[in-house]
Amino acid sequence: SPTTPVFSKDFLWGGATAANQLEGAWNQAGKGPSIADALPGGNERFAIASQPEFNWQIDEDKYHYPNHRGIEHYQHFKEDIKLFAEMGFRCYRFSIAWARIFPQGDEIEPNKAGLKFYDQLIDECLKYQIKPVITISHYEMPLNLAKKYGGWKNRQLILFYERFAKVVLERYYQKVHYWMTFNEINSAFHFPVMSQGLVPSNGAKDFTNIVQAWHNQFVASSLAVKIGHRLNSDLQIGCMVLYATSYAYDADPRNQLANLQQMQDFNFFCTDVQVRGEYPSSTGRMLQAHGVDPQKLKITEEDLQLLKDYPVDYIGFSYYMSTVTDVTHQDVATSAGNLIGGVSNPFLKTSDWGWQVDPTGLRIALNQLYDRYQKPLFVVENGLGAFDKLTADNQVHDNYRIDYLRRHIQAMAGAVADGVDLMGYTPWGCIDLVSASTGQMSKRYGFIYVDLDDQGQGSSNRIPKDSFYWYQKVVQSNGSKL
Ligand code: BG6
Repeated sequence: SPTTPVFSKDFLWGGATAANQLEGAWNQAGKGPSIADALPGGNERFAIASQPEFNWQIDEDKYHYPNHRGIEHYQHFKEDIKLFAEMGFRCYRFSIAWARIFPQGDEIEPNKAGLKFYDQLIDECLKYQIKPVITISHYEMPLNLAKKYGGWKNRQLILFYERFAKVVLERYYQKVHYWMTFNEINSAFHFPVMSQGLVPSNGAKDFTNIVQAWHNQFVASSLAVKIGHRLNSDLQIGCMVLYATSYAYDADPRNQLANLQQMQDFNFFCTDVQVRGEYPSSTGRMLQAHGVDPQKLKITEEDLQLLKDYPVDYIGFSYYMSTVTDVTHQDVATSAGNLIGGVSNPFLKTSDWGWQVDPTGLRIALNQLYDRYQKPLFVVENGLGAFDKLTADNQVHDNYRIDYLRRHIQAMAGAVADGVDLMGYTPWGCIDLVSASTGQMSKRYGFIYVDLDDQGQGSSNRIPKDSFYWYQKVVQSNGSKL
């Protein structure tokens, strides 16, 4: 049942996006191509990237690449931030396109024109007292780092990321208080394409590479924390994971055990390292289950010390849906999901894309994470990808989205009442943008409709949806008018 909202008065209400999914201008002002620019649009995007011959080639004759145009935020950012301000955003989570700052990734000097864009973007936010929340790396890296260096499994990427993080932290630390080092770092468990730059042709099939890439990212993340805290020890630098609350199918102890292990390996492995500063005791079991020989991993004593010395300050996470673990039945119905599928839960309804909608799962997630780590939590992504219909008089009546968000905010309120320290809430794709998993525009999350279709055709006009006016009231009332 709904709980009376209890959000702190400085609760960070806002919205979230990622550079590669909205900026467009993929080859302007010195920007290099990123791995996201090499992913075709459509449901088959991962299937294409999983073919053995795929090696990050961009073939514009054959495929449509929606991230190239995005929603032209690069040109429209002032208009977009103004709309966010109209909704009353107190913060705005966005990412910095690595390839705008280091076009090939391995340069020594940054691209000044790229930095200039973020100077303007940040100042535009501050003009409206919107606090920027920056993801340093959100599902992209300069394409060259995937092609020439083989993605994150290569240790040299630590140095390149450190250089990138240093440039942006030094430039913006006085204006930006909240940071995250890597988006959904754990998603590589199933899909190492976007977060690690790994496809079958450069090693994605071997879990050793995924674990090595994680280790390199953990070290890189700690280096960013080190740089940030030296600049200002108050900076809040978080990790970011894809959290999918997972239930055992039934009380069969075998399903319970499998679910426990699933929760540990998928939801907690990365946060254990990034928050506690050391590998969890379950690491050996997980490596063994995936045929990884620990001797093959390159992990130094200095690395382990760095992880220990520079853990993150808070836990950012995305939450869209829950999953079910079942190892004892065959022929059970399955469902799709946020990079992970699973068994269908008969108690839940699904979104247009088959994701199982479960607000209570968010309350469970918040409790599980807070009980385990006692660190502030930040729900930095949540939302409903749905088909929207623009009416003849330019309106979008998206009450299904309002209903989804309302129920998740009620769940957060419940968790706060449970004692969880929750910093804020930035629903995903606060303005319609290109979907990460399917490269579609028609999978819309926004409070603001963007007139573009899956082929990138349209005026790119911005049109507030009904949810825009609803969220405005939610923020104004600090979550009490839902
Ligand atoms: C998260 C990502 O997985 O979910 C975002 O951090 C992504 O980049 C979002 O867009 C929604 O997923 P999708 O595939 O519907 O865009």
